[in-house]
Amino acid sequence: MSALVKAFGPGRVNLIGEHTDYNDGLAMPFAIERGVTVTAEPAERFEVEALDLGETDAFDTPSPVDGWKAFARGIVAELRAAGFDVAPRRLTITGDVPQGSGLSSSAALEAALALALLGEAPEDLKALAKLCSKVENEWVGAETGLLDQFASLLSAPEHVLRIDFRTLEVERFPLQLGDWKLVTVESGATHTHAGSGYNQRRAECRAACEALGIGSLRDATLEGLDGVLLKRTRHVITENERVDATAEALAAGDLVEVGRLLDASHASLRDDYEASVPEVEATVERLKAAGAAGARMVGGGFGGSVLALLGPGVEPPEGALVVSPGAPASVLL
Ligand code: GLA
Repeated sequence: MSALVKAFGPGRVNLIGEHTDYNDGLAMPFAIERGVTVTAEPAERFEVEALDLGETDAFDTPSPVDGWKAFARGIVAELRAAGFDVAPRRLTITGDVPQGSGLSSSAALEAALALALLGEAPEDLKALAKLCSKVENEWVGAETGLLDQFASLLSAPEHVLRIDFRTLEVERFPLQLGDWKLVTVESGATHTHAGSGYNQRRAECRAACEALGIGSLRDATLEGLDGVLLKRTRHVITENERVDATAEALAAGDLVEVGRLLDASHASLRDDYEASVPEVEATVERLKAAGAAGARMVGGGFGGSVLALLGPGVEPPEGALVVSPGAPASVLL
């Protein structure tokens, strides 16, 4: 392994399929061009510098800690536990995915850290994605699923992924937008998964499974449910259907229909999953008023960004980020 390694992990946008990953469901994400870059150089002990935060950490043996420091410590510990030989490094982190914006700065950081420490991409990228997710679950304290890590590590330029989280099968669909654009707009309400309603939604999904006597909501029907559990389950069932409908609409080049499906996804996340907040609603309304064919909250919710599909001639509003499928995480040097 060369003395200096530089690795990049992209953030992601999820076109559709929200809160389905931890329910053995379907989703359609892609990596974006923004992300996190980590450089690694040999050192006596682990030294970590988060340039954008102006903070540092140092350790010999990784131990639990709160906040951003948990990422590097967790990645080192889990890579070693998985049998990789990880020597002490001086790690420098910098990025251009806004944190808490729902564009998965966390998975971008995990992927970049792992590749910088390994020096090359391992053969089994799905296993690495699972390892990164374990760090988020067990070291950072967010019970997130595999969506973001799969998107960061397995994406392909100009394609969206269709991931089946039951089988972990990944298919790639061309995203041909022509004169159309996808943009994200920050709502102004930031979130952290560890501190939002995200973990509560996961508990509600588990409760619905228990009430139905099934292992995951992929097998759910609504019969026998009422109240909150019915609403959460209805979101998951209809969102899985919308992922397949989106794949069909993309294959047919029907972007008007994709826009309609984005709107339907948002309504379901707002009304059945109750994962929206007033700032996100205001942003969706603003984008629809500006002529968006579809707009929806993206990522874990309870704040973060809104994704909108804009037809030909519709100008992105001020502050919007035009997003398109970029390359997956990789070692740059
Ligand atoms: C976050 C999590 C993902 C996924 C989404 C919601 O981004 O990290 O695992 O659950 O929320 O679809």
